[in-house]
Amino acid sequence: MIPISSPQFDDAELTLIKEVLASGIVAQGPKVAQLEQEFAKLAGSQFAIATANGTTALHLALLAHGIGTGDEVITSPFTFIASANSILYTGARPVFVDIRADTYNIDPDLIEAAITPRTKAIMPIHLFGLMADIGAIMDIARRHNLIVIEDAAQAHGAMFNGQYAGSFGTGCFSLYATKNMTSGEGGMITTNDPQIAETLKLLRAHGSKVRYQHDILGYNFRLTDLHAAVGLAQIRKLCDFNERRRINAEFLSEHLTRVITPTVPDKFHHVWHQYSVRLVDGDRDAALDKLKAAGVGSGIFYPIPIYRQKVYVDRGYTDHLPVTEMVTAQIFSLPVHPALSSSDLETIIAAVESI
Ligand SMILES: Cc1ncc(COP(=O)(O)O)c(C=O)c1O
Repeated sequence: MIPISSPQFDDAELTLIKEVLASGIVAQGPKVAQLEQEFAKLAGSQFAIATANGTTALHLALLAHGIGTGDEVITSPFTFIASANSILYTGARPVFVDIRADTYNIDPDLIEAAITPRTKAIMPIHLFGLMADIGAIMDIARRHNLIVIEDAAQAHGAMFNGQYAGSFGTGCFSLYATKNMTSGEGGMITTNDPQIAETLKLLRAHGSKVRYQHDILGYNFRLTDLHAAVGLAQIRKLCDFNERRRINAEFLSEHLTRVITPTVPDKFHHVWHQYSVRLVDGDRDAALDKLKAAGVGSGIFYPIPIYRQKVYVDRGYTDHLPVTEMVTAQIFSLPVHPALSSSDLETIIAAVESI
């Protein structure tokens, strides 16, 4: 079976893990600091603050910007549950705005109608490795004095107009196993604001700067040096990984006719975390069964809009956003990861064309 994702490791990860074990510092230490430095560069930001995972990155970014009970945060319902849950954790309320049918990202033309006196922030999701329309979103945020928290969990190295994801607002990344680069589990927050960076460091470590002195209510959301060792080896391979993903994606788009292939708007650099297509005239479940029988792994990211998840219905959500409804019913993702061979790509194309 050609898997939908395939993390790539070699001696580089092993060497760094051995260094950490030999050093005796296995919790947060110098490797985390080094990863933060290299990550800040990758995201074109002044500061990067490592956290235990992408969910805690989002949670802390919201808290650091003072978002809490009574506030509203505008976001997309077409994403992994963690995006919206991080808003709920703070006591604030996610307000869902529909997506565009071509990019699957939040539709900026619909954002202003969703702004109320309670709106504090916009959280665009850079889904599948393609940035949301961040130029338009930053304009809206400036006009209405709103914070922008970029969910860049799937967008390491993505760009708009030559500027990196995570450097427009406060950026939140995931280093989960299937992401373009991984530390096993891990997260990263990027910012150019020294005050926010300081607050984030306090929040991730029980509000403590000096040992056993606790200034604010914080958490234990730290990354470990063992995870950072893996992350460091991976970040140095990210450009190569992303380039292989791009070549695979372009080959698929050149040859697939049976499905709607992804759009890459002008000025956007896509990093192909997922290669997601839509089947508009067929039975998706039957199609995925057929792919499986042909040895092609696939995934549905995401089958249910967040507002229809029980946890949200139980909180009074009754949204029905037409583009999100259509896309969740039609979308599925094909393997695009860096380990695909030419014959894997041929197998994927033949299987999809036979749907
Ligand atoms: C869009 C999005 N946001 C947030 C997250 C949460 O990241 P993590 O799984 O590292 O907590 C993920 C990861 O799966 C994601 O894909």
